[in-house]
Amino acid sequence: MKKIFRNKTRISIAVVAITFIFSIFYSAQIFSEEIPIERLNKFAKQMHELQKRLVGYPVNQNTELKEFYEWYLGSKLYEVSMNNVGDPRKAGIIGMNTHEFENEVINFFAPLYGFSKDEVWGIVTMSGTDGNSHGMYFGARQLFHQTKMRPICYVSEEAHYSIKRLADVQNLELRLIKADKEGKMIVSEFEKALDPSRPALVVIAMGTTFKGAIDNQAEIDAVIRRKKPIAVYRHVDAALFGGYLPFTENKDLVNRKVVYFDSIAVSGHKFFGFDEPMGIFLTTKKTLNQTNPFEIAYLNQAVPTITCSRSALSPLKFWWKIKRTGMEGFKAQAEIILANAKYMEKELKKINWPVWRGDYSNTVYFKRPGKILMEKYGFAPEFDSRLGGDLAHVVVMQNVSREDVDEIVNDIKTSKK
Ligand SMILES: Cc1ncc(COP(=O)(O)O)c(C=O)c1O
Repeated sequence: MKKIFRNKTRISIAVVAITFIFSIFYSAQIFSEEIPIERLNKFAKQMHELQKRLVGYPVNQNTELKEFYEWYLGSKLYEVSMNNVGDPRKAGIIGMNTHEFENEVINFFAPLYGFSKDEVWGIVTMSGTDGNSHGMYFGARQLFHQTKMRPICYVSEEAHYSIKRLADVQNLELRLIKADKEGKMIVSEFEKALDPSRPALVVIAMGTTFKGAIDNQAEIDAVIRRKKPIAVYRHVDAALFGGYLPFTENKDLVNRKVVYFDSIAVSGHKFFGFDEPMGIFLTTKKTLNQTNPFEIAYLNQAVPTITCSRSALSPLKFWWKIKRTGMEGFKAQAEIILANAKYMEKELKKINWPVWRGDYSNTVYFKRPGKILMEKYGFAPEFDSRLGGDLAHVVVMQNVSREDVDEIVNDIKTSKK
């Protein structure tokens, strides 16, 4: 009996030893791969080159995060896996997260969009689309809570495609409302489409993607007052404009105390300039409380977000950027992009090139030049027969200087000949 036992022990020790040797061998193999640094460097160089000339998309390429990354490396936080899962605004979730910084980001923006400190609820999102996703989901839940009916979602046909995609994902009935040639929702068409017997989830385009148009919310509200749908939720998609408008004299356009809305989504990587997508979503605690149908005991009943795991790093970068730039810095940047956009519009007019720009907009759209220039500058294309057909646009962000504008206009002028 003793002998059998001794043999069994020997066999177990041998198995453990072999497993140990194999695992060392295996992990050595995993980590012995050479990283092809040359390939990576070539890729990085290409990105830096493209960064200098692609001006068709609403992304501030002046990311200015060097100091952040120096601190990050110094702090060795890359050795730590953090995760912002849970409700950042709920006390008592202690974990490896950056909820405290995420809260401060939301607290910075709350008064800028007209939310009081006590009523606001919000998160740093993955993107503008993620913010829209939360707005539409929360809206549909709130309206269901109030009426026990699923809403109809109304949005302008020129709104960002994420709204249409999300309506599909969330199985919402969608009514696309015609837009005028400047890109604004035609309010009389909204009036025709609005069904007062069903709750209305109205998505307001605060800066359409191609023409930079702003829906006229005062007129939309007048229709709502006239037709009195049984319940209404207003979500504002302010992906780009929500970044800079609060720092301009037209800040009231995104102030819910002046123009009422229930939630707002803004992209972080557009105006604020980050090296990866992120955004913010703000609503009220009241909406949140009418929304969340699930209780998650192991996370302190607290996952009101659609996504479970969320980045801990992006709120930290956002917080850093706010501290570094401050109100005055953001105001100066907003002023520059709007002044440079006006300058571009004026210069194109000077050479008689058909050009348009919405009120309050840093997007300049114009008759589409030839393929060579489209590729050189990465101008985004669009088509509108009401404006003569093929169009292109430049979004004048902080990295687009007057010299860049002069070069683009000169190229267009030369291409005319
Ligand atoms: C008006 C509008 N809404 C939403 C989005 C989507 O934002 P994101 O790319 O941050 O998901 C965009 C992107 O260009 C946009 O222009």
